[in-house]
Amino acid sequence: MPNTEPPAQREPIKLLVFSASLRKESLNTRLARLAAQVIAGHGGTVDAATVRDFDCPSYDHDVQARDGLPPGALELCRRLEANDAFVIASPEYNASIPGSLKNAIDWASRKHPQPFNERHGLLLSASPSMVGGNRGLWCLRVPLEHLGARVFPDMFSLAQAHQAFEANGGLANPELARRFASTIDRFMDLVEAATHYPCVKKAWVEFLGEHPTALTDRAE
Ligand code: FNR
Repeated sequence: MPNTEPPAQREPIKLLVFSASLRKESLNTRLARLAAQVIAGHGGTVDAATVRDFDCPSYDHDVQARDGLPPGALELCRRLEANDAFVIASPEYNASIPGSLKNAIDWASRKHPQPFNERHGLLLSASPSMVGGNRGLWCLRVPLEHLGARVFPDMFSLAQAHQAFEANGGLANPELARRFASTIDRFMDLVEAATHYPCVKKAWVEFLGEHPTALTDRAE
């Protein structure tokens, strides 16, 4: 279970947390549940979702032109916009990401304004393998960063996940439990700063000398 001290006080932040596995006994869903517990324990508000909430037919531009976005994509957009940041626990399929997750991201990317842009995200994975699904997370960074999401540099991949959980849902290894909690806590610090202290972000841009113009609006 989490064993870093919660901060004395935190400004309110809301995080969308979901697993990208449809499987009932999913290891990633267990990890997402544990992440939600840690977030709540560190003063955050959790909006827990499942990837089923965002289920979409295969992307088809003709369908989009005719019918607009399907309900699953609209729900993903709505939940991203209603929260300050997102946390995804994703399985690794064939060294990459599940097609259902990529499909949902593709659909959501068609909304204007595009809901991943400038949104902070933390990536987690769990796998029975020794690398814990980490290759899949590097693949997941690509579409998310392409869309302007601020993907947290640290990621957490749980190796041999089928043996890693205690009956109460915590991680059996105390060092891993500490690392998991501190990764989430540091991510929450950043989300809190970005949400409540936007002047910090402006100062950073000005320090680099990137004056807002049409050409640099992405940096802004
Ligand atoms: C897998 N699995 C897998 N694991 C891994 O570490 N690297 C991989 O490349 C793959 N590839 C892969 C492809 C497909 C199609 C399946 C169904 C599975 C195993 C996978 O990590 C394992 O089934 C996890 O338990 C899936 O995550 P959930 O459903 O438990 O969250």
